Amino acid sequence: MEKKKDDVLILAIETSCDETAAAVVKNGRDVLSNVIYTQIKLHTVFGGVVPEIASRKHIEKINPVIETALKEADVTLDEIDAIAVTYGPGLVGALLVGVAEAKAIAYGAKKTLVGVHHIEGHISANYIEHKELEPPFLCLVASGGHSHLVLVKDYGEYEIIGRTRDDAAGEAFDKVARAIGLGYPGGPKVDKLAREGDKNAITFPRAKISDNPDDFSFSGLKSAVLNYLNQCEMKGVEVNKADVAASFQQSVIDVLTDHTVAAAKRIGVDKVAIAGGVASNSSLREQMREACEKNHMTFYHPSPVYCTDNAAMIGVAGYYEYIKGVSDGWDLNAIPNLKIGERK
Ligand code: KG4
Ligand code: ZN
Repeated sequence: MEKKKDDVLILAIETSCDETAAAVVKNGRDVLSNVIYTQIKLHTVFGGVVPEIASRKHIEKINPVIETALKEADVTLDEIDAIAVTYGPGLVGALLVGVAEAKAIAYGAKKTLVGVHHIEGHISANYIEHKELEPPFLCLVASGGHSHLVLVKDYGEYEIIGRTRDDAAGEAFDKVARAIGLGYPGGPKVDKLAREGDKNAITFPRAKISDNPDDFSFSGLKSAVLNYLNQCEMKGVEVNKADVAASFQQSVIDVLTDHTVAAAKRIGVDKVAIAGGVASNSSLREQMREACEKNHMTFYHPSPVYCTDNAAMIGVAGYYEYIKGVSDGWDLNAIPNLKIGERK
């Protein structure tokens, strides 16, 4: 790759959960490489992510993943301007591997270090394929650990409009998947099975929070699905798993879509984006698109590879921090419960 004088190259590292990832991003929008080593297979046998195994695998894979990212981008470490790294939220042991690695590289190669919030990374994934997208816009973040409605006021400027009171949307997908015997990670498996089912077969609840209509709650829905399965078992009725998957998924999608569009209308933004692992759900994307069209809003979503955990999104968010002059010192630490819009 030929680097022009004004080009800004970010090497990004992401190790907050069970993907060891590195990427090179040019000028905040062009992904030159995006390497992901997924540990999913390792954790599947345990039915979920085992933190210690995740950390151990990160430490083993992080160097080869970074080397591959630089090689695929055809960039030398010399040409990199800054190292961006996820420093929270996430599993502390997993985060520490990425943070220590980023600090070591930045120190050794005399590069700027930029700590990035994982969710701000998810939101920024929308900039990669929508070159025209600029703030302000409203973003629904739905992942394994988070369900948030975030108003992106400007680059790096966020206001949380709504959040989940209990389970995250992805967590509900994972728990329901386990209950119907689909295994981990549940989201993609429920998504696939739901295509064979009837979404109107079973009526599951769509929770509303009385004191904040923008907040979410998914634990009641999860319990309703578990109750339904128990009742079927007690009555000796055979469960149609595809119908359960489709009906459950429809309930989640209705809640996510209704909340997002209602909040966008009230705030007065006409751009709506989605992000996080659940944003790769095919039916959610379809329903959001329809709802946005109906309400004269433009709908944005990343490709599935940029919805689930990756380092390219961290490189994008890191770029917008870097050009504002934000940088971190050698005391940068992992913060497992880091809040959106907050710097350590
Ligand atoms: O963003 P992500 O990769 O990791 C976190 O930061 O949590 O999200 C993972 C979550 C998991 O709960 C997974 O089941 C869910 O996203 N997910 C999906 C789909 N693909 C992944 N949920 C619904 N439909 C999908 N197609
Ligand atoms: Zn994530």
